[in-house]
Amino acid sequence: MSTTQPRPRLEVIVASTRPGRVGRVVADWFIAEAGQHNGFDVHVSDLAELNLPLLDEPNHPALRNYTKQHTKDWSATIDAADAVVFVMPEYNHSFSAPLKNAIDYLVHEWRDKPAAFVSYGGLSAGTRAVIALRPVVSMLGMMAINAQVAVPSRVHVTAEKTFVSDPALDASAKAVLDELARLAPAFKALRAAK
Ligand SMILES: Cc1cc2nc3c(=O)[nH]c(=O)nc-3n(C[C@H](O)[C@H](O)[C@H](O)COP(=O)(O)O)c2cc1C
Repeated sequence: MSTTQPRPRLEVIVASTRPGRVGRVVADWFIAEAGQHNGFDVHVSDLAELNLPLLDEPNHPALRNYTKQHTKDWSATIDAADAVVFVMPEYNHSFSAPLKNAIDYLVHEWRDKPAAFVSYGGLSAGTRAVIALRPVVSMLGMMAINAQVAVPSRVHVTAEKTFVSDPALDASAKAVLDELARLAPAFKALRAAK
């Protein structure tokens, strides 16, 4: 009998939904980095494709008494995740409204999972949005790791929407993935012990 453990499932959430967005370009670079890292089964939730309505459930999500198929599907997706990466823009010094909406749909599904951030934006590279998001995910019982990727998009995304990385950015992606890979099995055991 094989004792090979399945690789942790990494959920990459693409948090911008704008037509013409840079978000998918940044996400595709990070998804490729995660593929090369080889420590995860990588799954992508692109909020533009998911197209969740503004929260339309009558019951508090902590009850898990979901009435809509899109909520049940989203719940199953996040339930299956062992680690989460938010690929996120900075809008008005915070994170995007579609991301807050997607987070607010669920409660227990986020709990006891490591989370990391790949932010992008102007010269501050989306870091103010990350500062705003950290307490939100912490409140939900996620462990937001210290390592993060911060992309000043004008430096790394061309007008033709090609991603141009550099060794420092690649190293920051690897640091995030290494830390998530280290933590994911421990948090999985923690969830199983409940
Ligand atoms: C509504 C809006 C607000 C923005 N606010 C900020 C901001 O506060 N700080 C910043 O660095 N960039 C800001 N930007 C620039 C974005 O970070 C940049 O356009 C980025 O590409 C947006 O991500 P997206 O293309 O995936 O939507 C803003 C952009 C938009 C559309």
